[in-house]
Amino acid sequence: MDNRPIGLLDSGVGGLTVVKKFIAQMPNEATVFIGDNAHIPYGDKTKDEITELTRQSVEFLLSKNVKLIIFACNTATKVALDSIQNETNTKLIGVIKSGSIAAIRATKNKHIAVVGTQMTASLHAYKKEITALDPAIEVTELAAPKLVPLIENNATPADILPVLTETLEPLQKKSFDTLILGCTHYPIIQKQFAQCLPNNVQLINPADEIARYTEELLQTKGATCERPNLGKHEYFTTGDVKKVNKLGAQILADPNFNAIQV
Ligand code: DGL
Repeated sequence: MDNRPIGLLDSGVGGLTVVKKFIAQMPNEATVFIGDNAHIPYGDKTKDEITELTRQSVEFLLSKNVKLIIFACNTATKVALDSIQNETNTKLIGVIKSGSIAAIRATKNKHIAVVGTQMTASLHAYKKEITALDPAIEVTELAAPKLVPLIENNATPADILPVLTETLEPLQKKSFDTLILGCTHYPIIQKQFAQCLPNNVQLINPADEIARYTEELLQTKGATCERPNLGKHEYFTTGDVKKVNKLGAQILADPNFNAIQV
């Protein structure tokens, strides 16, 4: 038994799509989330900047006495997780392996597409992970730097659709049957992704798999929360609380969503 909360971090509200899956998968667990909205987007920053900002969020979560930390950010997972793991005994879990496993399971024609931030795409985060697990799989990667700012600014579907259509254009002639939403912000516009892609393409949200994996891990370690419905969820942001509260209420379908500024 371990009644301490699970910590989650992201550069912004994207990580709330992961929190949402965690609450659904493990309703007894408490969570603490920090979104570094003051410094978003991470995807266009240097590796050193991303690592330093992520370290600050990890330190914040450790000060909240969390039992493990989920990097609910693909960019931070790829750039900073390994080095920060060397600095702490608290287990850190990233989204990329989970997304890769789920996509490998889903693809039938062994061709997977991944859309992510500039950093995630240029470091071949998913390609490396997927081909290490199954070298026969073809992986097509695409950077979509315009999407995160639009999502963070609560753009309407009508504003997002043309940008997304243009972004996905290079994928048009590719024959993939599975697409990984390789940035935790993208599930927020999953409907628009589906609208822009052929019907046979399955969309993978890595958060589904990471929530299952984390639950299994806690069970194996005997570290689940045993106070039924402790259900306490705390939200922190380094950015504008009003803006985050509006988006958070939508993403979590919780009108009482309330973030605290740090
Ligand atoms: N949500 C983050 C991810 O999954 C990226 C957003 C950003 O560029 O800061 O990579």
